Amino acid sequence: MVEDISYRLFEERDLDQVVNINWTCLPENYNNSFFLELFYGFPKTFIIASVGSKIAGYIMCRIETGFSEVKKISIVKKGHVVSIAVIPEYRRNGIGYNLISKALAGMFEYRANECYLEVRVSNDTAINLYKKLGFKQIKTINGYYKDGESAYLMTKSLP
Ligand SMILES: CC(C)(COP(=O)(O)OP(=O)(O)OC[C@H]1O[C@@H](n2cnc3c(N)ncnc32)[C@H](O)[C@@H]1OP(=O)(O)O)[C@@H](O)C(=O)NCCC(=O)NCCS
Repeated sequence: MVEDISYRLFEERDLDQVVNINWTCLPENYNNSFFLELFYGFPKTFIIASVGSKIAGYIMCRIETGFSEVKKISIVKKGHVVSIAVIPEYRRNGIGYNLISKALAGMFEYRANECYLEVRVSNDTAINLYKKLGFKQIKTINGYYKDGESAYLMTKSLP
């Protein structure tokens, strides 16, 4: 187990490391301004895990208003997990779990009623992680990703 993992809110000085982790770990990549836009808009749900000065993982989210994914009839505030990744050498140390837990607490502070995310149907690792946190797979979005892969939409009520 890796010790001395700490968690804090993202700061602008973290941008290069976070962008690098995003490019290394995920096929969905964004330009720097997108990361900063989410940071300026929703700082409490943009969290990093660090080991010393090295960033081991991040999560960034957005708060949206729209139809509930859980109770179809109401308009609610929803936390949306936009991107999460942990660099390979630090995986399986509970970092992903802790990042999401902390982001859920941040969403609750923004008064979100629920959280949702999309995950590739082939990404068993992430699907297991989300299930462990109590997310439910509620539908399949066919061809959601640019390469044509479908996504599961997964949701969790807050708190
Ligand atoms: C998904 C990811 C963020 C998980 O991060 P992590 O820090 O390794 O996850 P954790 O150590 O917190 O694992 C928590 C749970 O997730 C599941 N899990 C994690 N890694 C797994 C693996 N390799 N195989 C199966 N289940 C796994 C397990 O249920 C695990 O609980 P357990 O250790 O008690 O069995 C990481 O693998 C990653 O960055 N993947 C590439 C990017 C990605 O796919 N992001 C998600 C896009 S939707």
